[in-house]
This record gives sequence, C-alpha cells and structure tokens, in this order.
Amino acid sequence: MVPFIQEKGIVVQCWYPLGGRGYTAELLGDETIKAIAEAHSVSPAQVILRWDLQRGIVVIPGSSNPEHIKENLDLFGFELSEEEMEQIKALDRGEKHDWY
Ligand SMILES: NC(=O)c1ccc[n+]([C@@H]2O[C@H](COP(=O)([O-])OP(=O)(O)OC[C@H]3O[C@@H](n4cnc5c(N)ncnc54)[C@H](OP(=O)(O)O)[C@@H]3O)[C@@H](O)[C@H]2O)c1
Repeated sequence: MVPFIQEKGIVVQCWYPLGGRGYTAELLGDETIKAIAEAHSVSPAQVILRWDLQRGIVVIPGSSNPEHIKENLDLFGFELSEEEMEQIKALDRGEKHDWY
C-alpha cells in the first residue's frame, strides 16, 4: 500500500512508529532489529526510525524522555544496507496494526 500511495505523490506518515506507548517491547526487543542495531552501534528505536525514513516515510515518535528524544533525532549518522532493509521488511506478518 505504501508504494502505491507514494507513487501518487502523497507523503506517508507513520503513527506509533515504535509500536505505541505501552506496546514497544515487541518491536524494540525483536532479535533481528537488535542485531542490526548492534552492527551499527545504535539503538533498536533508531533502526526502526531509520528504516522508515529510508522508505520515505515521515516518523513521529512520541517520548517524554530527553535521552530518547535526542536519540530519535540522531538518525543521519548511519545507513541501513539493502540487505538490512529486506531483513526488516521480512518481519511483516501481514497483520493490521490497529489496536485502538
Ligand atoms: N493523530 C492521530 O490520530 C494519531 C494516531 C496515532 C498516533 N499519533 C501520534 O503519534 C505519536 C507517536 O505515538 P506514541 O508516542 O503512542 O507511539 P510511539 O512513538 O510508537 O511509542 C512511544 C513509546 O516509545 C518510547 N520511546 C520513544 N523513543 C524511544 C527510544 N529511543 N528508546 C526506547 N523507547 C522509546 C516512549 O517512551 P519514553 O517516553 O520513555 O521515551 C513511549 O513509550 C504521538 O505524538 C501520537 O499522538 C497520532
């Protein structure tokens, strides 16, 4: 769906990019995400946010922690490889993330 929307020149924005407040454990604790984070010496949150940015998606992570806010802005000192982008894409379970 995302490429289809982007082809029309519409900007896609990711709500709850980290899973949503109270629901981040699964994404931030994912073994694939953690391994990629380790390889780049960044956090799992930074990997997820960078993955979205590299797909041309606007991210609006929410945080009330100053360290997390700094981290979430620091996304431009590393780049995910094509292979890493594919590894993260492969985590898609084809489920709608719509719990509210
Ligand atoms: N307009 C709409 O209808 C709509 C719908 C959905 C979402 N939104 C907006 O989208 C934004 C994001 O939503 P959200 O905050 O629920 O979801 P989120 O960004 O997916 O998750 C926020 C959670 O991630 C944690 N977090 C943030 N940065 C982190 C980091 N670097 N490392 C570890 N944990 C981190 C935060 O905890 P800490 O505070 O401890 O960092 C918080 O618990 C909000 O501004 C929300 O209002 C709008």
